[in-house]
Amino acid sequence: MLVNMKYVLDKANKEKYAVGAFNFNNMEQLQAIVDAAKDLKSPIIVSTSQGAIDYAGEKMLYNMVKTFDDLEIPIVLHLDHGKDFEYVLRCIRAGWTSVMIDASMYDFEENIQRTKRVVEIAKTLNVSVEAELGHVTGEEDGIIQRSKLYTDPKKAKEFVDKTGIDFLAVAIGTSHGAYKYEGDLELDIKRLKEIKKILNIPLVLHGASGIDQKLIQIATLYGAKLKGAKGIDDEQIKLAVKNGINKVNIDSDNRIAFMTGVRETLANNSDVFDPRKILKLSYKYMYDLTSHKIKLLGSENKA
Ligand code: G3H
Ligand code: 13P
Ligand code: ZN
Repeated sequence: MLVNMKYVLDKANKEKYAVGAFNFNNMEQLQAIVDAAKDLKSPIIVSTSQGAIDYAGEKMLYNMVKTFDDLEIPIVLHLDHGKDFEYVLRCIRAGWTSVMIDASMYDFEENIQRTKRVVEIAKTLNVSVEAELGHVTGEEDGIIQRSKLYTDPKKAKEFVDKTGIDFLAVAIGTSHGAYKYEGDLELDIKRLKEIKKILNIPLVLHGASGIDQKLIQIATLYGAKLKGAKGIDDEQIKLAVKNGINKVNIDSDNRIAFMTGVRETLANNSDVFDPRKILKLSYKYMYDLTSHKIKLLGSENKA
């Protein structure tokens, strides 16, 4: 059934596990994600970016998710990185059960004002709100000193008190995309602990893809050029969950799974032109990946 994200994450916070939030843009991605959650009896968050809404339209995305309403697992339809107020409103109107207002690129006061405006509307309509303080970087940010943008625990308290958000996305070392860092990376768990201690609300980890090197190897064998693609180790994710993260955002991992399946299928079957056959292996790779994440995050049998 379709539920507000507070219902899912308050339980995760109390019982100290995390729920995966998986981005989707098309039917096969959504099916693989929800089927894995259903089979493992896990709550699940399916997220759409503004770009997904431009691609498929909110009516299509909402109705695809609505087809799973009769399942017994809790399903959240969430707007990921709502940067424009217009998209936030469109999603609330169309039936999304949760939204993220991402004004993390603005200064502290502006972030508060933009976030508050969304909270005031969303709360009256039983839609939960996530916001971000500090900034989880991405490929679009270029070379910057990442730690300068980490979430300040004291500011986080003031931000949550002044805005009334339900969940906070924190910046502790992850970044968006398939090229997260060179060398080794350790998340700032000390900072995370401090934030959790002060706030004790569900916390969100963006940029959490692991970039499965087995999939990268297969994709490379079939022509992909993804040298240096690297993600967050499972052990680091486990540590983050143990210390207060309750929602873990994954997009790049499933994109790679999808692409690998298509490449492998087409390379090995030069006579295939039926989309159902072309996307079958992609579905399997995404299903397996989602299942792995659910087990890693501890949300199996928590539906
Ligand atoms: O965090 C961003 C997500 O990976 C969405 O990316 O805007 O290309 O859909 P997108
Ligand atoms: P990845 O690029 O690591 O999958 O992060 C996705 C994300 O944070 C979506 O909000
Ligand atoms: Zn993100």
